[in-house]
Amino acid sequence: MTSIEIRKAFLDFFKSKQHQIVDSAPMIVKNDPTLMFTNAGMNQFKDIFLGNTPAEYKRVADSQKCLRVSGKHNDLEEVGHDTYHHTMFEMLGNWSFGDYFKKEAITWAWEFLTQVMKIDKNNLYVTVFGGDAADKTGKDMEAYNYWKEFIAEDRILFGNKKDNFWEMGESGPCGPCSEIHVDIRSDQEKAKSSGKDWVNKDHPQVIEIWNLVFMQFNRMANGQLVELPNKHVDTGMGFERLCMVLQGKQSNYDTDVFQPLIQALAKLSHRVYGQDPKADIAMRVIADHLRAVSFSIADGQLPSNNKAGYVIRRILRRAVRYGYTFLDLKEAFMYRLFPVLVEQMGEQFKELRAQQELIGKVIEEEENSFLHTLENGIRLLSNLMDKAKEQGNTQIVGSDVFTLYDTYGFPFDLTDLILREHGMNADISGFEKEMIAQKARSRNAATISSDDWVILQKGNESQFIGYDALEADVEILRYRKVNTKGKILYQLVFNQTPFYAESGGQLGDKGFIVSEEGEKFSILDTKKENNLIVHWVSNLPSELTGTFRALVNIDMRSQLESNHTATHLLHHALRAILGPHVEQKGSLVNEFSLRFDFSHFQKVSDEQIREIELLVNQYIRRNIPLQEFRNLPIDQARNMGATALFSEKYGDHVRVIKFSNSVEFCGGTHASATGNLGVFKIINESAVAAGIRRIEAVSGVGAEAYLTNAVDTLKEIRDILKTGPNILQGIKKMVGDYGNLKKEIDQHIKERVEQLQESLRKEKTTRNGIPIIHVYKGYPQEIVKNLAFAFRKEMPDGIFFVAGVVGEKASINLMLGDELVKKGFNASTIIKEAAKIIEGSGGGQAFYASCSGSDLQKIKNAVQYIYEQLNIADVNE
Ligand code: SER
Repeated sequence: MTSIEIRKAFLDFFKSKQHQIVDSAPMIVKNDPTLMFTNAGMNQFKDIFLGNTPAEYKRVADSQKCLRVSGKHNDLEEVGHDTYHHTMFEMLGNWSFGDYFKKEAITWAWEFLTQVMKIDKNNLYVTVFGGDAADKTGKDMEAYNYWKEFIAEDRILFGNKKDNFWEMGESGPCGPCSEIHVDIRSDQEKAKSSGKDWVNKDHPQVIEIWNLVFMQFNRMANGQLVELPNKHVDTGMGFERLCMVLQGKQSNYDTDVFQPLIQALAKLSHRVYGQDPKADIAMRVIADHLRAVSFSIADGQLPSNNKAGYVIRRILRRAVRYGYTFLDLKEAFMYRLFPVLVEQMGEQFKELRAQQELIGKVIEEEENSFLHTLENGIRLLSNLMDKAKEQGNTQIVGSDVFTLYDTYGFPFDLTDLILREHGMNADISGFEKEMIAQKARSRNAATISSDDWVILQKGNESQFIGYDALEADVEILRYRKVNTKGKILYQLVFNQTPFYAESGGQLGDKGFIVSEEGEKFSILDTKKENNLIVHWVSNLPSELTGTFRALVNIDMRSQLESNHTATHLLHHALRAILGPHVEQKGSLVNEFSLRFDFSHFQKVSDEQIREIELLVNQYIRRNIPLQEFRNLPIDQARNMGATALFSEKYGDHVRVIKFSNSVEFCGGTHASATGNLGVFKIINESAVAAGIRRIEAVSGVGAEAYLTNAVDTLKEIRDILKTGPNILQGIKKMVGDYGNLKKEIDQHIKERVEQLQESLRKEKTTRNGIPIIHVYKGYPQEIVKNLAFAFRKEMPDGIFFVAGVVGEKASINLMLGDELVKKGFNASTIIKEAAKIIEGSGGGQAFYASCSGSDLQKIKNAVQYIYEQLNIADVNE
């Protein structure tokens, strides 16, 4: 069976068991501070497990794109070195939300593997949770007894908490699990030892393929387990591993999922896969990482310098480094492999094909910039090696190695490798010490911790009523304390709320709540977390029960709405004017302005900017009323031509916002008619990354303020120039006059310099054999500089030195002839120190530097200091 057939067989099987087949969620997680990337199929259903959201379907199955590169589930370092770990992989899963439980989950898993996929049951083993004293959980005998129906008892093994109790992260839904392991060793190997002895022992041919989790608990932030309101099933089967088993391969990388990539890479690097273990590892790393990076970009996460973006950047760099070191690929190569991935997976994952050009460009640019980093690092390292050798050392100190790694992004293992090639080594313990210190620093900078929720009342939570109402009576259902970087704040969840929680780029509402007693509390921000609408306050009400009047800050909301609607109109105009390739890649809507990032491959010209503005302003003048469709079946929304985003997860029912031809999937709040925007103005256009542009713009009150400001500035200019209404003419005249004056002044300076040079030449003396012209008088800087350059030519072995008062400042200039510089004298270093003496600052180059300072009395001391530095203090020939 091909991998495509295998995926289909799984989904068809669960469809036949009344499961709804759903799409994979994007790999980049939103609205969950505990998670950056989707690390399991169950992530998109976490709200349901927690009881925050009712399930749309009781039974669901899918194939989910997962990425295990951070946090609790991180397989990055294993990838490539073995044959069955991946950063990105597909997880086939079936779910029950409060519907079937252990019996059906076990029965169907067995049926699918042994009857549909026809895996020999003599190659299968299962594990069952053996209980944990600390958690006060017992052996899962219920699962054991169901398994007994299908498989001999000596093939059922009890496992510990590490292997048989599944948790998504440090907190959240969790439960005991049963894993199915498969033994694909040769008959010969099987005869030597039982597969049973190899279960969970990291054997590459006795591996787990399916994990059936019985979700029963929620792990609290304080470590305790609390029973979930309902019992659920969460299963996850590694798709690539299943393909390996069914295609009779010994490695995931030998299946049709990876081979096309590996073969293309082998060709590109003029090698054969399977001949050199080191090159093979590199090929596996690259094939794996290319998938991870490409799908992340497709799902909206560009490589960048922080958080999720940085993780993606590091994955890409790891691949480039393996190619560079082990496959001799010294030029960008991943972007050349990328079309193979699109060819292979573009059909199943439309987001890949639709954004092929963008993804390829981003990868290429990232590769080139990292290759540049590598070259830079190699140069720096060879300087360090030279320096160490000069001092008779063979070791590079830890702090230097760390700077290379941390400041210059040069990978440590490459440093280590290069040093060893030169018979040298790195001070590893010094390096590690620096690493630990740096980790502690970044931990402190990012600490956000929250207590467990305190539930005041059970009931329907977080009903959003803010599309229709800006104030309402609300009750607090739960609250908790949060420590964000040392600041204590509180979060409140209401039964219903008019406050919009930040999402889709639109910032959360602010406002306040008032208690029945008239106590008023500011709502500082509103955010979404696992489908709860969370309101941030700095103090808790003294009485938490009862009704509060919640009032949204209307001015801010109306500006947010204006800018959000402007964003839709801009998006529409961009597609109309630049073309349908424009995809939204990021959006920020605040009360002052809007920022919109989109895929486009060259600068947007001034003319195009004008056309875009014109089109948006036409929409505004037509005063098109908002058409809002809540709860529209997704197919109907698509048929309307509504624009959806690859980075968003949509349910079966969506909200659509329509202003004439601008039709988008959107949950945000909007102006009731486009006329409310008043006017729209683009204030900046720039590049964000390869193939991604950014437009910043204003509308409504923000646009008014911007335009008023611009006109006021023009008025001021006119007043200064006193030109009357025609400012441009005035400026042109001024620029012309300035040019003429500049010419005259330059001529004047030239003549003055020549005169001065002539007369100063006569003052030349010699100190300690060095010709010196020392002027105790201040001249304007421009003149001194010209003199210095003139004397530099005339006295390559001499000094030209001016110290005096210019205006109200002490001013010192020092020119050292080139021969003195060659001897190691440095005017800049000397002047920097002299500047301190006169309470000032300065600098320059080795042959010429200047400074000025406020202490006129100390000029003499500074002069003395400079003479000493030049070894001419005590001589006067
Ligand atoms: N959540 C479990 C896992 O990721 C089963 O889907 O292994």
